[in-house]
Amino acid sequence: MSDTPTLQPTILVIFGITGDLSRRKVLPALHNLCRDGLIPEGTKIIGISRREVSHEEIMGIIQDSLTNNPSGADQEALNRLAAWTSMFKLDPTNDDDYVALKSHLNQLETNTGNCLDRLFYLSIPPQVYAPIIDKLGQHGLNQGCDHQEAQARIMIEKPFGYDVTTAEKLITDTNRVFREDQIFRIDHYLAKETAQNILKFRRHNPVFSKQWNSSHIKQIHVIAKEKIGIENRVVFYESVGAMRDLVQSHLMQLLALTAMDMPEHLTSDEVHASKHRFLDSLIPPSGDIAKQVIRGQYDSYKQEVNNPDSNTETFVSLVLKSSDPNWHDTEFKMTTGKSLDEKLTQIIVSFGEGDTNALTFRIQPDEGIDVNLLIEEPGYTNALQEVKMNFSYSQYFDTSEHDAYERVLVDGMRGDHLLFATRSEVLAAWQLLQPVFDYWHNQSQDLVIYPNNSQGPSTASLSLGYNI
Ligand code: BG6
Repeated sequence: MSDTPTLQPTILVIFGITGDLSRRKVLPALHNLCRDGLIPEGTKIIGISRREVSHEEIMGIIQDSLTNNPSGADQEALNRLAAWTSMFKLDPTNDDDYVALKSHLNQLETNTGNCLDRLFYLSIPPQVYAPIIDKLGQHGLNQGCDHQEAQARIMIEKPFGYDVTTAEKLITDTNRVFREDQIFRIDHYLAKETAQNILKFRRHNPVFSKQWNSSHIKQIHVIAKEKIGIENRVVFYESVGAMRDLVQSHLMQLLALTAMDMPEHLTSDEVHASKHRFLDSLIPPSGDIAKQVIRGQYDSYKQEVNNPDSNTETFVSLVLKSSDPNWHDTEFKMTTGKSLDEKLTQIIVSFGEGDTNALTFRIQPDEGIDVNLLIEEPGYTNALQEVKMNFSYSQYFDTSEHDAYERVLVDGMRGDHLLFATRSEVLAAWQLLQPVFDYWHNQSQDLVIYPNNSQGPSTASLSLGYNI
């Protein structure tokens, strides 16, 4: 990684350190950052858990979390983590425990003789954010150490609410305790390598940027296909579904990065303002919503969640338009599904019909960028053939892949908001989708069952041209 950031020692307080998300993403990311020397000496990692967890147990959990780490486990990194990590037992409803946590953090700082930035990471189900945030505030943990020289920050995971009303409430509750500049709303898709590149690519390649409008771009399609199903997250997924889980957050953010006006400077404030303007310009689905939004459910889903009446969608494909005159004829499409035939996330910007003359940002796997061109076939023929020019990070750059959560943690620790979601973006996305939730709430006939490991509902391919 060039331009390696220099981080200040921080106290990272992880709520839910033994949970599923932490094991899958956060702990491997911390290990990799330690291995790469990004986490500085003096950092403290405090794992919060309701039950007593010994140091040995947490180190075992960290070790196990590295089973699928592409580069495996690094002993030196593990040694550092072992020295920096400690556990703290806390019942989220018990005031005394917060008092004890605060004096524990103060004591750590007294021992080191320095005020340290504090980053509270809520790697826990969103339903329990509000009470914890409230208690953090009541006990003064929304401020840096007692001498006030350091920052306190909070990082939270999506989904930020369940609909417009609950999102507004969560935002208000969080803002009551933490200022907006202290809050980091994670959308890890923004931290994926190709996603980070979108704005720079658009800005510095006039061959494309000059054509970045409705006169040239017919469609922008953000696609996130997943091979996995819901992986035992029954309670979470039954209450959420694909629209809330991926479209409202990851897909909207990728779409906004692709279609927003290019700001004068790529600073966090200007980028967020421009993203918000674009999201605000999207026209909420209305009228015959089933024609604009296709929803599906994979075949074995009802059995998996043990609910024969479940209407939860595991697949969505929808088309939107923008009221921005720059985009009046362009279709904005988003498609996502679980238990599909492959894992693939990409953004296809179509300059011609279908995928011909398309520019594709490949978010994962094999991150990179493709351009499809029509070329005359060699020989005595006039026939045209579609060919692909292809750039892959892995072939071009001598660097290993970094998981998005590494970037999330680094940016949280250094307080950089660029790759996080703001409250106005979150609300704009909920407002846009609310008519769909209202429509779905009242009927279920449009839910199409599709075979596991397939391309999703065939209706999606017919009506919305879902063809990739
Ligand atoms: C999460 C969703 O935000 O993203 C999961 O809750 C989904 O349902 C995951 O599987 C996909 O992330 P990635 O990085 O594996 O594409």
